Amino acid sequence: MTPTATVEGYPVNTSANTPNMSLYPATYQVIDNEPWVGGVKVSDLVKTHGTPLYVMDESTIREMARAYVGTLKNNYPAESIPLYACKANFCMGLAKLAEQEDLGLDVVSGGELYTALQAKFPVNRIFFNGNNKTIEELELAVHHQIGRISVDNFHELSLIHKVAGNKNRRVDVLLRITPGIECHTHDYIKTGQIDTKFGFDLSQLSKAVDMIQSDYKETINLVGLHAHIGSQIFEVRPYEDLVEILINIFFNIRQAYDGLTLTDLNIGGGMGIRYTSEDDPPNVTHAIERVTTKVKNYCEQIDYPLPRLIMEPGRSLTATSGMTLYTIGSIKEIPNIRKYAAVDGGMGDNIRPALYQARYTALLANKLALPAEETVTIVGRYCESGDVLITGISLPRVETGDTLMVFGTGAYNYSMASHYNRFPRPAVVLVGEGKSHVLVRRESYDTVLQQDVIPPHLLESPL
Ligand code: LLP
Repeated sequence: MTPTATVEGYPVNTSANTPNMSLYPATYQVIDNEPWVGGVKVSDLVKTHGTPLYVMDESTIREMARAYVGTLKNNYPAESIPLYACKANFCMGLAKLAEQEDLGLDVVSGGELYTALQAKFPVNRIFFNGNNKTIEELELAVHHQIGRISVDNFHELSLIHKVAGNKNRRVDVLLRITPGIECHTHDYIKTGQIDTKFGFDLSQLSKAVDMIQSDYKETINLVGLHAHIGSQIFEVRPYEDLVEILINIFFNIRQAYDGLTLTDLNIGGGMGIRYTSEDDPPNVTHAIERVTTKVKNYCEQIDYPLPRLIMEPGRSLTATSGMTLYTIGSIKEIPNIRKYAAVDGGMGDNIRPALYQARYTALLANKLALPAEETVTIVGRYCESGDVLITGISLPRVETGDTLMVFGTGAYNYSMASHYNRFPRPAVVLVGEGKSHVLVRRESYDTVLQQDVIPPHLLESPL
């Protein structure tokens, strides 16, 4: 028996593995050698929607959301809110799903904010991050009175002061700081170390607080601190260290600024997922138990009131729910060197292998019963030698027309997709309870042309 608690209707299984620890979506099943997800046969998804196709399993996302929301509620006596980091994968349907699961949203651009607003997401649960927000984006945020703005630098402080002043508002902000924590992840996705473009250096923090408390008092209300130490993190310890650093700063601010008591503690996102069997991500339930214990103990130790605890998970909420389906086209065998198999997508729908040397797990959906018998390199159809999705994977004999399923593609694949080579982007479908629903329609050539304009003088016949 696994201990199961219920938090306001949410089942919270405190000992089960959380889906981010698995290679496959929670509802992935093999029946008579055929793969199914969300109660839908993968071969039917291919027939109905074509390839390349992003598939997202609704149950996996909900289970992860409940691990965050439920475990926080269960273990933390003060207020808490996990914000879905929209940069991982966002569209209006996912905004609705996040709303249903009681998540907030971390948006980092006018586009993400606009998507959330169009989906009628509750504005008080929207937090706006980013290191170079424009005045137009800040106007949109202030106009709609979103929950919080995380201020990254002095330039933004002055912009917010101006925008809030013009609208006669006082805006609730967090200051984003760089806590000086190094974690073990790819260099491009580390953000907590001192040498980074994000956030206030600790040496600049008191100047920022001084400015808010004096010149900007009427327009800016400082309510908390924010930090994000990186992404695809497997350890919990850096979060515990971060909690201590942030609460110490809270304490020092209270001493230095006349009892000013900050209430929002935002420890960012970054929890990892399993892309390959070598990855060893944390159980999110256990991680949150440790982090909340740390906050409770440390606040008690230094006699600081429990703050509102905010987390910003992106990848761990959606990556494992996702699979990308491709059809194998051309195959090239270079004797004694390598066999290449090309899929009908590639770096335009998944830039991660080229950008971060990311590794993925994949299977041939139509050959699950067959043993692996060759090593192939899966490439895309983009005009770049670097368009390699998986180097040296063992598969049954790969042939034209096979369906390749790549797992763990629910975060930072669709959201980083491009029109490189003028390929239209794939559709995104949500599967659950035996049905598939389109979240984002497949693009056409006309979608790609949509913003093109031919200047009139180029329409004239050549001289
Ligand atoms: N909060 C902040 C302030 C962030 O910068 C990020 C991610 C997150 C939360 C969410 O982190 P997550 O839980 O997803 O790890 N494109 C890269 C990942 C870049 C992450 C950027 N910031 C990739 O594909 O690996």
